[in-house]
Amino acid sequence: MNRSMINLTRGVPPPDVFPVEDLIECGEVALRRDPAILLQYNQGGYAPLREWVADQHGVPPEQVFMGNSSLEVFSFITQVLVQSGDRAFVESPTYDRSITLLRRTGAEVVGVSLEGDGVDLNLLEAELDRGAPSLIYLITDFQNPMGVTTTLQKRERLAALAREHGLWLVEDSPYRRLRYWGEDVPSLWSLAPERVLHMSSFSKVLAPGLRLGYVIGPQPVIAGLSEWAVDSHIGPVLPTQGMVYEYCRRGMLDSNIERLKEVYRPRLDAIRTALENHLPEVDWTDPQGGFFVSGFLPEGTDVVDLRARAAEMGLKLSDGRGFFPNPDDGRRFLRIPFCSLTEEEIREGVSRLARLMQEG
Ligand SMILES: Cc1ncc(COP(=O)(O)O)c(C=O)c1O
Repeated sequence: MNRSMINLTRGVPPPDVFPVEDLIECGEVALRRDPAILLQYNQGGYAPLREWVADQHGVPPEQVFMGNSSLEVFSFITQVLVQSGDRAFVESPTYDRSITLLRRTGAEVVGVSLEGDGVDLNLLEAELDRGAPSLIYLITDFQNPMGVTTTLQKRERLAALAREHGLWLVEDSPYRRLRYWGEDVPSLWSLAPERVLHMSSFSKVLAPGLRLGYVIGPQPVIAGLSEWAVDSHIGPVLPTQGMVYEYCRRGMLDSNIERLKEVYRPRLDAIRTALENHLPEVDWTDPQGGFFVSGFLPEGTDVVDLRARAAEMGLKLSDGRGFFPNPDDGRRFLRIPFCSLTEEEIREGVSRLARLMQEG
């Protein structure tokens, strides 16, 4: 393999997995069927898709809010449920943009360490004693950036704490259906539907450019989000929703997800093996799905310095600090997304990383 740059930063699907022809066909069918709806202003989104999503989760459509991406949905959630000066808890590390959105409300964002089986509940309970937050944001399946899945035991305790303290759990679940091995763990939402907002997205199971995400939750919260949304975007982008509805109506989403798993499973296998072979001294996470593997590099390693040297070697690494509410906690943290790399790129990328670490 030549010295072309290997990018170990991008948590996005590779473009060659997009079902382009099917989406073109579904988009055309949808637009021809419902042009007056899909090209007009509309509050609340395309009703057939909302009903389809509701059906999938066994709830009435009034419990579904759809927005332009799950990030937009989360931004509305923060604006509706969090006031300036509130506390908001997140896993540490967590998805960097969620930290930013919570901070924009003026909330104090408190990071609670994430362990290999979910958030550290002792630390969480100690923080609750200091002051309950308005919400706890959790990525329970194949977490971004760690790859960790929260155990059922921890989910049950989180559900109990939410009930006890009357707080919201926001469960962000874009990777849940991308499980390559093992059994699903019941969602937080299934354990405490009255205290959980369960978010998901078509970005990772279909295509991110669609910008289509949603949240399931209690009807009064969904009504509040819908009201907020009208004054923020009037209504979501509808041609996308029509296209995706037609795709789902034809039963294509499930087969697409199966196809994606066949592409991603060997890539996760390849990165596990490469990390075991080349960098066994690091305690890497061991995900069974999703997009990410991660680890804390040995004491004394500084990812900032490592990134600079990596670039010279044709390797792009992410800055781990962005995933932590307290950035210094991420100086040794490395997230490695594997889905958009071929197995050969994975092997070469990890071998370059190992050489870098030896030289360090
Ligand atoms: C945990 C998590 N939430 C939300 C998003 C954003 O999803 P969307 O494309 O629906 O905005 C991502 C994307 O990487 C993510 O990892």
